[in-house]
Amino acid sequence: MALSEANLQAQATWNNRACGTLSESENEAAGTLETFNRLVERRYGRNDPWVPIVLDFPSMKGKEVLEIGHGQGCDLLHAAMAGGHVHGIDLTPNHHEICKRYFAALKRPVDLHLGNAGELPFASESMDIVYSLGVLHHTDNTVRCIGEAYRVLKPGGTFKIALYHFWSLPHLWLLMAGIIDGNLRRLGYRRLLSRIEGGADGVEISPLVKLYSARQLRTILGDFSNIDISIHGLAYDRIPLVGRFIPKWFGGAVERRWGWYVVANAKK
Ligand SMILES: C[S@@+](CC[C@H](N)C(=O)[O-])C[C@H]1O[C@@H](n2cnc3c(N)ncnc32)[C@H](O)[C@@H]1O
Repeated sequence: MALSEANLQAQATWNNRACGTLSESENEAAGTLETFNRLVERRYGRNDPWVPIVLDFPSMKGKEVLEIGHGQGCDLLHAAMAGGHVHGIDLTPNHHEICKRYFAALKRPVDLHLGNAGELPFASESMDIVYSLGVLHHTDNTVRCIGEAYRVLKPGGTFKIALYHFWSLPHLWLLMAGIIDGNLRRLGYRRLLSRIEGGADGVEISPLVKLYSARQLRTILGDFSNIDISIHGLAYDRIPLVGRFIPKWFGGAVERRWGWYVVANAKK
């Protein structure tokens, strides 16, 4: 399967800067255990404490678990440490290599593939759990990728997916900041959105960023059953200008209504 322009832009983005890193020096140190520990602390601490709750690592013990778009591999490693038999696929060579290094350093077995979510190299009905957080809104063939997740799941298997949420405060803040600093007029909406990814400038590096409502997510999960949808995260580190000043108490109900991720938990 040939890579689309969106796939090539995704590779360019995360080859340039490993996701979750906040600076050039942190990016250069990606792959070391010190960076991994900092990443975990930030992800499960202030930024995305909902992730371990949604993924429910203890439920993965003894299960065949696949992560689509594992990035640096923070969640996949936690799935492995919880006793899951873990498989991963990612499109970006930089992330594939970094993730391999973390698993080797922590001496955990893993089955990692460099490849495209639109064409999964796994047998049909081979996985108990498939999850993908913050990935399938960066591809132009989201529906096909979800179809692939469905194919590789065993009947009764669990699918968890998180996509960016259209009706969210981070989206609103991004637009307001774009109006204030002139980037919305200069770059246009699509390129402005792409700058939410670290290392993307919206000009040379401009990953595809799509946003979904809860209703749209439910629609594209067509074949799945028992679909449970929830909203999470305020993306503190990504909100331009004000993100770092937002107090934690601001979350709660606000986050559950206007958060940055629309998340589904569904059954095949
Ligand atoms: C923002 S990062 C998220 C990484 C990780 N899931 C997390 O939550 O930290 C997006 C990841 O999706 C991967 N990706 C994007 N499009 C993909 C595709 N079509 N197939 C597989 N991986 C893809 C990128 O390479 C990148 O590692």
